[in-house]
Amino acid sequence: MNRYQIGDKRLELTEGDITLEDTEAIANAANSGLLGGGGVDGAIHRAAGAELLAACRALKRTLPGGQLATGRATMTAGFRLRARHVIHCAGPIYSREGARAPALLAGCYREALRLCEESGLSSVAFPSIGTGVYGYPVDEAASVALEEIARHLRAHRLPSLVRMVLFDSGTLAAYARAAEALLGAPLSAEAEPPSPGPG
Ligand code: APR
Repeated sequence: MNRYQIGDKRLELTEGDITLEDTEAIANAANSGLLGGGGVDGAIHRAAGAELLAACRALKRTLPGGQLATGRATMTAGFRLRARHVIHCAGPIYSREGARAPALLAGCYREALRLCEESGLSSVAFPSIGTGVYGYPVDEAASVALEEIARHLRAHRLPSLVRMVLFDSGTLAAYARAAEALLGAPLSAEAEPPSPGPG
């Protein structure tokens, strides 16, 4: 796990399965239809159970046209997940959005972090939104994601812990490169102040 201090906040990068995370919220790389899918969306729905789909159906009815706009985020309970909340983000389809893709991807992180702050959540985990089915180049997505996360952590009280949970070593390495370029070297294990813990 790579750890970075941003002011009094913590950014962590780790390889793993986000459905196992015990942060207060986990973010989902969903789609505008909000009714599940493959990738991490499918994994989160499987782990959360059928109640999540029912909650998403109810949420859809409150959204304009029943769709979550690309670059936006919305929150449900986590049901059978360890995380109490799921923040569903509609990432950009890279080939379709072209020059707008970076702003739309940044919007997912910005909105998700705003929802955490408004809900008083101190910890959230994100997958690498957009870099699977939606085809966002990982190195570019990593820079956009971490710049937005760092911007929020510097300006807001909550959350105090953001954890990127990456599904493979290649994606983790891309986020580690982007983090090092943006924030410098990760905290060494010895210099580690006690972690604020997941909650
Ligand atoms: N934990 C963490 N990350 C995961 C997991 C998991 N359990 N499963 C997959 N991932 C990773 C992928 O390896 C990729 O790095 O999540 C990242 C995002 O990939 P996708 O899940 O394909 O999401 P995205 O590229 O944003 O495409 C979203 O795919 O599954 C559908 O319904 C979803 O239509 C939406 C689209």
